[in-house]
Amino acid sequence: MRQKLVLGIETSCDDTSIAVVDESGQVLSCKTASQVEVHAGYGGIYPEFASRAHVAAIIPTLEAVLAEAGLSPDQLSAIGVTRGPGLIGSLLVGIHTASGLGAGWGLPVYGINHLRGHLRSALLEGGKVDYPAIVLLASGGHTLLAFMKDASSIALVGTTRDDSVGEAYDKVARMLKLGFPGGPVLDRLAKTGVANIKFPRPMLGKGFEFSFSGLKSSVRRHLEQNPDAEVADVAASFVAAAMDVLIGKCRAAIAHYQPASLIVVGGVSASPQLRFGMKALCEEAGVRLALPPLQWATDNGAMIAMATFDYMVQDNDKLLEVAPNLPIDML
Ligand code: KG4
Ligand code: ZN
Repeated sequence: MRQKLVLGIETSCDDTSIAVVDESGQVLSCKTASQVEVHAGYGGIYPEFASRAHVAAIIPTLEAVLAEAGLSPDQLSAIGVTRGPGLIGSLLVGIHTASGLGAGWGLPVYGINHLRGHLRSALLEGGKVDYPAIVLLASGGHTLLAFMKDASSIALVGTTRDDSVGEAYDKVARMLKLGFPGGPVLDRLAKTGVANIKFPRPMLGKGFEFSFSGLKSSVRRHLEQNPDAEVADVAASFVAAAMDVLIGKCRAAIAHYQPASLIVVGGVSASPQLRFGMKALCEEAGVRLALPPLQWATDNGAMIAMATFDYMVQDNDKLLEVAPNLPIDML
């Protein structure tokens, strides 16, 4: 029997990304129009420009995906589109485009929770998860721990009180004049330095919540007080502190919840340091580590398509209102 195919559309932030994925998690095609150059001069994302860039990119990206996959719309079973969390204008472009395509092609359209997209990125291209599972979602917008008793239940365990870890990466990268987004460059620079500065490990050893603004501020203070600081050492010391917190919290969550798997997803899961540290932790604890393939760690349409299969079996209403603050424990 032929596998069902879903079209996934992601426009919650600064990437227009569209993919076709089959039920088993194989990605037939994914195309992403990046907005890095649109926002380059602003040191962050400029929401109104993001919406306009999505409008310009969405149809050409769709056409490129269908052409690469060699598919016509009648071969698809459904469309999934991010409805939140994210920037309201960017989300509206995705939702309205998907609704129009669904009406024109006679396909059901499901509004998908972006965080559940990240969650399912770990199932793409052969990824496996055993339950119960602990989830660490570390991205630019979020840093949270959740517990999954089984494949379809999810309970929030702890979130961040202030900045996300990705935001801390981006802000520290900006202080070090490394450009935006900062994660990959900062990781590379960190590998060339020595972690010899003792930055704080906020809230480590204290429950399952996170806080990263104090870490970011102490990097800023260190740079003010030491204008000639070796930037590679600052980067290495920051990354070491962030990793200690993320890995330490996962170690505590594994000890408390005794899961069969640890799922690590979100843009920061692209970090080689994080992948290495989580692998060591899971080997030590005897749990399965579920990571997305590297190219599906940061925002993409494939993870949204993958999550859509969950929504299709639940026969819920199609949830097409935008929800800029949607939490992970809601559809
Ligand atoms: O999941 P994502 O693409 O977007 C959100 O949903 O927020 O995550 C983006 C975040 C950015 O903060 C970026 O700096 C970070 O992920 N990031 C990384 C790496 N690649 C992306 N952080 C650390 N190491 C990386 N290699
Ligand atoms: Zn994301």
